[in-house]
Amino acid sequence: ANFSDKNKPLKGKNILVTAGGTQERIDPVRFIGNDSSGKMGFAIAIEAQKLGANVTLVSGVSKLPDPVGITTIRVKTAVELSEAITRRFDEQNILIMAAAVSDYRVQNVADQKIKKDEDTLTLTLEKNPDILKQLGKIKQDQYLVGFAAETQNGLINAQEKLEKKNLNLLVLNDVSNAAIGFNSNDNEVTLLRPQMENIFIKQTSKKQIARELLNVVISDLKK
Ligand code: CTP
Ligand code: CA
Repeated sequence: ANFSDKNKPLKGKNILVTAGGTQERIDPVRFIGNDSSGKMGFAIAIEAQKLGANVTLVSGVSKLPDPVGITTIRVKTAVELSEAITRRFDEQNILIMAAAVSDYRVQNVADQKIKKDEDTLTLTLEKNPDILKQLGKIKQDQYLVGFAAETQNGLINAQEKLEKKNLNLLVLNDVSNAAIGFNSNDNEVTLLRPQMENIFIKQTSKKQIARELLNVVISDLKK
């Protein structure tokens, strides 16, 4: 490999990154959302592009602007996110699922704004598809990366997700520490892989986490 290839270890690789949070409609003026800022996923997309990858960013709700030179697709609901990924999955080498996906959606979305007629209001929610689990079932050679934000029993829950979703890598994010995680510029994570020692990355910028994560992916792909 020549000098430029050495600095572009992801050259020729198609990578799809998801970021941000999903929103599920309740009525025309309300939704169910979450605290994801999109910063982690956007940082991964930007760093992957610097490493030479052909990046597609599928973003849920995030205030961040489209990164320059990266194909960015914006979606709102978990079902829209699922469709945007599934359509592009075959051609991908790597899929990194940093989006915070709503586990449930409203069963009967109201056509009109809901009035406060009653003293209590019950919304019935139904489960969204587990996108990553479905991809884990149909994957060919794709390297699949998931994220898990946990407030308790992090390592145990993360290990279970790694196996159940048939992932190559799971990034565990302990969100009980307010200084890191959602909306913060910093993060602190543990990387879990099947049959491998965990890698702990102590508090640092999301850009640096993105770089170290991608370096692990690159070294795994060489094996
Ligand atoms: N995920 C997904 N589809 C969903 C829910 C989650 O693809 N419907 C992905 C997330 O993007 C993340 C990973 O699965 O990469 C783990 O998400 P997490 O919310 O931690 O796990 P869940 O499987 O949803 O389990 P729970 O929320 O009950 O802990
Ligand atoms: Ca979840």
